[in-house]
Amino acid sequence: DESNLRRYLDEAVSAAHEAGNLMLECFARNDAHTSVEEKASNADLVTKYDRQVEELVLTRLRACAPDFGVVAEETASKEELTDAPTWVVDPIDGTTNFIHRQAECCVLIGLAVRKRAVLGVCFIPKMDELYTAIKGHGAFCNGRRIASSGCKDLTKAMVNLHFPSYSRGPKVLERILGVNHDLLAHPVRAIRSGGSAGVDMMHVARGRLDAYFEVGIYPWDVCAGQIIVEEAGGVCLDTMGGKFDLSSRRVMVASSSELASQLAVHLRRRCYDTLDAE
Ligand code: IPD
Repeated sequence: DESNLRRYLDEAVSAAHEAGNLMLECFARNDAHTSVEEKASNADLVTKYDRQVEELVLTRLRACAPDFGVVAEETASKEELTDAPTWVVDPIDGTTNFIHRQAECCVLIGLAVRKRAVLGVCFIPKMDELYTAIKGHGAFCNGRRIASSGCKDLTKAMVNLHFPSYSRGPKVLERILGVNHDLLAHPVRAIRSGGSAGVDMMHVARGRLDAYFEVGIYPWDVCAGQIIVEEAGGVCLDTMGGKFDLSSRRVMVASSSELASQLAVHLRRRCYDTLDAE
C-alpha cells in the first residue's frame, strides 16, 4: 500500500544518496579509470565502484524489504524478473561516462511488481539531481514536481539514441546509421547521443529531451526511468510502438503518444527491435 511504498522510497533515496557520495569521492580522486574491466566487449565496462555501490545499495534494500526479489546489474542476481515485488538496480548507469569523468551517470533503483515499475529513484550526483516517483503520485526532481515537454511533432523534437556497446557488426551499423539517416531526413530538429539510459530518461521526464530510444537495454537500465517518465506525463513504449516490457530489451520514451507514434514509424521501417550480434 501507499505508506509502505513511501517507506521503500525513503530507503531507496537514502541508499541512492549514499551511493552518489561514493561516486563523488571517486570523481574527486579521479581514479575510476584505474579499475576498469571489460565485460562483453571493449565498450562494456565495469569498475570496482560499480560493485561497491551495488553492495551498499543492495544491503540497505534487503534490510528494509527482506522478502523482495533483486535483479541487479553487477551481481549474480541477474535472475529473470518475476511477478513478485523486485528491486531492480543499476548501481552506476553510464559506467563509461563515469570512467571518462562525464557528469551524466547515475544510480538507478526501481521497484517492480508484476513486472511493472511502481516506484523509481534516479540520483545524478554530479548534477545534484534526485528524481523520484511512486505510481499514481507524480514525478519529482529534488522535491519539485516535473513534467515532460509535451512535444507532439517530430520536426520540433530533440531525439536521443544510444550506440550499442556489445555489437558493432556491419548489419548493426547499417541499421543504426539507417535510423539516423531517416530521422535527419524527416527532418527531426536534433539528434543527440548520451551515455546513460537513466539520465536520458530523466531528461525526457523533465522536458530537456523529447524522446530517447534504444535496443539492447536491460531491466535495470530502465525500470526506475519507466515510472518517472510516466508519472511526468511522458510515455514509455517498445521501439516498435507496442506496450513496454521491462525484459524485452527495447525502450522508447517520448514526451507524448503522438510523438512516440511518429518515431515508431521510422523505427518499424528499419526493424529496430534487436541489434543482436549480426
Ligand atoms: C549502459 C548505459 C548506456 C546504454 C547501455 C547501458 P551501464 O548502462 O545506460 O548509455 O547505452 O545500454 O547498458 O552498463 O553503464 O550501467
